[in-house]
Amino acid sequence: MASTFSTLTTTPSLQHRRLPISRSICCSISERPLTSSVTPAKDLPILKVPGEYGLPFVGPIKDRFAFFYTEGRDEFFRSRIRRHNSTVFRVNMPPGPLISSDPRVIALLDAASFPILFDTSAVDKRDLFTGTYTPSTSLTGGFRVLSYLDPSEPLHAPLKKLLFFLLSNGRRSIIPEFSRAFASLFSSLESDVARAGKADFGPGNDQACFDFLARALLGRDPAKSGLGSDGPSLITKWVLFQLGPLLTLGLPSLLEDAFLHSFRLPPALVRADYERLADFFRQAAAGPILEEADRLGVSHEEAVHNILFAVCFNSFGGMKILFPGLVKWLGRAGGLVHARLAKEVRSAVRANGGEVSLRVIEEGMPLVKSVVYEALRLEPPVPMQYGRAKRDMVVRSHDAGFEIRAGEVLFGYQPFATRDPRVFDRAEEFLADRFIGEEGERLLKYVLWSNGPETEGPTPENKQCAGKDFVVLVSRLFVVELFLRYDSFEIEVGSSPLGSSVTMTSLKRATF
Ligand code: HEM
Repeated sequence: MASTFSTLTTTPSLQHRRLPISRSICCSISERPLTSSVTPAKDLPILKVPGEYGLPFVGPIKDRFAFFYTEGRDEFFRSRIRRHNSTVFRVNMPPGPLISSDPRVIALLDAASFPILFDTSAVDKRDLFTGTYTPSTSLTGGFRVLSYLDPSEPLHAPLKKLLFFLLSNGRRSIIPEFSRAFASLFSSLESDVARAGKADFGPGNDQACFDFLARALLGRDPAKSGLGSDGPSLITKWVLFQLGPLLTLGLPSLLEDAFLHSFRLPPALVRADYERLADFFRQAAAGPILEEADRLGVSHEEAVHNILFAVCFNSFGGMKILFPGLVKWLGRAGGLVHARLAKEVRSAVRANGGEVSLRVIEEGMPLVKSVVYEALRLEPPVPMQYGRAKRDMVVRSHDAGFEIRAGEVLFGYQPFATRDPRVFDRAEEFLADRFIGEEGERLLKYVLWSNGPETEGPTPENKQCAGKDFVVLVSRLFVVELFLRYDSFEIEVGSSPLGSSVTMTSLKRATF
């Protein structure tokens, strides 16, 4: 499916702004085929995959403790790269016993081997969205939703087309609703900073993201529905029931491991919350979205639960991690980068008659585009991807080819591919200009946050994120809104179960 959309939008309330702004948006969902392929190792030695899984039960639990508690995620992988002298090795991935029946995977931790996970002719993606376990379908209305389907399954293409329709249907509202929701967030952060000297970015960001998504994509204001302002907390709890086995909440390790990583939290405890969300989505989807579902041969209930998942899990969950991450990297980049961003954003918008449009961002904001890609490169919000080898094959790292057997599960920890020093100079550093110019363009194919190279797009036949263009757009809009309003800002950073926890300690309003 190729769908291109382009339209004008309305002027949002501008009392808070220094610039008069009306907005337009144009964006596209492309249908280019994936070009990544299984490249058999040519001049490289062909090796057996190093590493072992240890004793049943004991090995996976040892690895789980190392992953969560004794080493931590990054060191867990780094220490094994050193031990095996290889970026490809065997390891158990959490959760393991008693949740996943088989935690054994082959880790791919470099930019050369990772892209095999995008090749749907080489790997099967069925039921691997959350890794080596699958949350109960009673958390998703009894359906296996799109994220868990392999493209070879008959419902994958119609459901993905339905999501393309959802995104395209909401296109007129994206820019004004984004501005409205985030203006409200920034106002409340400012009052908190004025009152208490600091403001927690997370809760307000959650509310702004959910309000924006519901109003832009579904045309419904949660505040005027039975949900009120409860959406974000209902979703966060529901997500915990699905991702708990992969998270740490900061509880004492033995207790946390027993409750969160060894048993599934009973879905019944979250059923009433989920039903409140489902009611909202049932009403919101009625009309064009369910008519499109009819055309695609998708039942109304299956459509509703898929749209709920795409908006609440994929979109809200993604933005809940991505935006604090963006603020963190931008905050750390410091005043000089802030000044350059403010200048770029404001002059491009002014030159366009005060209007923010996709064209203005595309053509007049190279630094905005670059910082967004750089944040997505350094900290891809969904860092782990899995795929089951469809056949015997050789997967190539920079140094060797590795024999993989049909049925083995391949696992990529994406930050190690997108911080690969053999691809990126000063790979661990945030370089604001990294993706500017010809050399920057060349590097885009190594930005993989969407489960595919940034130079390619989602199609009904692949597993690349259906919301790829949307996510890049809202991230750019976030930076635009931030620097239309502020000259600079300061932050403190902590960690949270999902991504970073950011506290704003100063917000300097625009002076030019
Ligand atoms: C920051 C935001 C987001 C991030 C980081 C993100 C990331 C990803 C990743 C990594 C995958 C592949 C997972 C895998 O198969 O291993 C994926 C798939 C998917 N994403 Fe996103 N996503 C985001 C937002 C969205 C949005 C806004 C939508 C809206 C519709 C969306 C819909 C989907 C769907 C439906 C899939 C499954 C695609 C398929 O089965 O072909 N995502 N996303």
